[in-house]
Amino acid sequence: MLPLQTKPMHIQELETPAIVVDLAVMESNIRSMAEYCQSHGFGLRPHTKTHKIPAIARMQVDAGSRGITVAKPGEAEVMSGAGLDDILVHYPVFGDSKLDRLAVLARERKIILAVDSPVTAEAISRAASRAGSSIRILVEFDSGMRRCGVASPDNVEALAQQIAKLPNVTFSGITTYPGHIWDEPAHQGSAVAELSAKFQAILDRLRRSGFECEIVSAGSTPAARSSHLASQLTEIRPGTYVFNDRNTMGVGACTLADCALRVLVTVVSTAVSGRAVVDGGSKTFSSDRWISGTKNGFGLVVEHPEVEFATMSEEHGTLELGDSGYSPKVGDRLTIVPNHVCACVNLHDQLHYHRDSIVEGAWQVAGRGKVR
Ligand SMILES: Cc1ncc(COP(=O)(O)O)c(C=O)c1O
Repeated sequence: MLPLQTKPMHIQELETPAIVVDLAVMESNIRSMAEYCQSHGFGLRPHTKTHKIPAIARMQVDAGSRGITVAKPGEAEVMSGAGLDDILVHYPVFGDSKLDRLAVLARERKIILAVDSPVTAEAISRAASRAGSSIRILVEFDSGMRRCGVASPDNVEALAQQIAKLPNVTFSGITTYPGHIWDEPAHQGSAVAELSAKFQAILDRLRRSGFECEIVSAGSTPAARSSHLASQLTEIRPGTYVFNDRNTMGVGACTLADCALRVLVTVVSTAVSGRAVVDGGSKTFSSDRWISGTKNGFGLVVEHPEVEFATMSEEHGTLELGDSGYSPKVGDRLTIVPNHVCACVNLHDQLHYHRDSIVEGAWQVAGRGKVR
């Protein structure tokens, strides 16, 4: 938290670059996703890699999420340390020391892991046996992204059979990350129908061998609101929706008004004609591209959307003024919506939160850098 202010501070008084989060917009994003899931009768397990902040995870749980998702053991430790429970570690975690840490957490917390290989499942079982705990396992299948996950219903069944023989672990269901669904929500029907058919084929195969799935998990932010078209799902795991970003906007899954997080910057140089430099570059925004748009530019300049945030070095962000009519002056303050909010947040120690532009406090990004 910030030291107590003697007078209310406007966000424009913050030193830049600074990340600011509009609480009203974030609360509305949290609420509306929870309501969507409730209205369709499946659960929400938000991926907390977007914010890495336990207080926000708590708000998501208080709004009705059944648990949370993380990628790495270090993130699970941060969330667990803050009292969060029912944590899905959706990553093929490899290495005894990492699994030992998760197995120790599993003495006090419900821990679920996603796996796509018997090597990992066996290592989880050994770690849980050493710790005297029990870990639930989901088998991950590849629904089209070609990143992780076994290929076929037979492969899922074979892995479930192997898990069922291991001590201190339980086969609890199936999961996939449909990160390849990257169309406008209105045009996702056929991709989600394909996803649903894949889930059904796996569930039928498992049922024939006597396996029931307590958890059937998928979900990303772009595809989140098409999830009701896959009737097999018991829960979804969107993460980015909590803040949204320029990529989410580009794919049509949110509007600018839904973007809760902005980066405040200051113009620090106008010496080169036709350009201006702001005080944040790749160490402020990350170098992630606008993959749902023209592929150009590193963020949306809210006050001058026609200005292109064209290039970056580590601490310099270069704006191409083009025909925008904007004549920047050193000291001008600008507001930028980052392309990829998750990568951006992970570069910062603190996020300031505000209502109607008055700063109410700051969260530490407690899970930043927790890549192990
Ligand atoms: C396994 C997994 N589940 C869920 C998500 C959340 O997706 P999104 O960032 O689109 O909200 C991600 C994102 O990387 C992921 O890797």
